Amino acid sequence: MSQTSVLVLVGSLRAASVNRQLAEAAVQTAPDGVSVSLYEGLGEVPFYNEDIDVPGAVPAAAQALRDAVGGADALLLVTPEYNGTTTAVLKNAIDWISRPYGSGAVKGKPVATVSASISPNAAQWAHGDTVKAVGVAGGTVVEAAHAHFGAVGERFGAAHPREDAEALTQLGATLHELVSAVGQRVDA
Ligand SMILES: Cc1cc2nc3c(=O)[nH]c(=O)nc-3n(C[C@H](O)[C@H](O)[C@H](O)COP(=O)(O)O)c2cc1C
Repeated sequence: MSQTSVLVLVGSLRAASVNRQLAEAAVQTAPDGVSVSLYEGLGEVPFYNEDIDVPGAVPAAAQALRDAVGGADALLLVTPEYNGTTTAVLKNAIDWISRPYGSGAVKGKPVATVSASISPNAAQWAHGDTVKAVGVAGGTVVEAAHAHFGAVGERFGAAHPREDAEALTQLGATLHELVSAVGQRVDA
């Protein structure tokens, strides 16, 4: 039986990103038969520009992102909150995978979200905007597949999220809901 593949896009580029650490922790919660991998290279994807989104001119980094998303069974978007919304890095990725209009790589792809920030609000504004954007982009947002982490400085300052049993439970449940949605796709 083939594996279910989940691709993770992390909206923070910084080396010590807590969101990246949460994505790394999610990898280890993958159930049997599910592969979870972090997409590397979002920082190289140029700003979306319709002038370069034409056959023969699509930048290699943008095409690589589209190919990776297109080849995955599901997406997990992991986002911090920057000034009350998601990051430009993640929004840019969503824009690239939303096109060509009506047949972008994200079209019909089950999507889960994880958000984390230093505030007690747990980046839920970023979560809301991410869900809105990826839904408009054509993704299938899995309503039950989300998790939020607030006050991450205190919570994960001393220990990686993979050492936090509650975080692993939340991440595992999010993946479980996401993978269940893959099985329910009529075209799966
Ligand atoms: C430009 C910028 C804007 C930010 N805006 C917010 C915000 O609106 N709400 C919030 O909770 N945290 C905000 N933060 C703090 C982030 O939550 C914090 O830096 C977080 O650790 C970033 O995620 P990362 O560790 O994955 O990089 C902001 C940080 C930056 C750099």
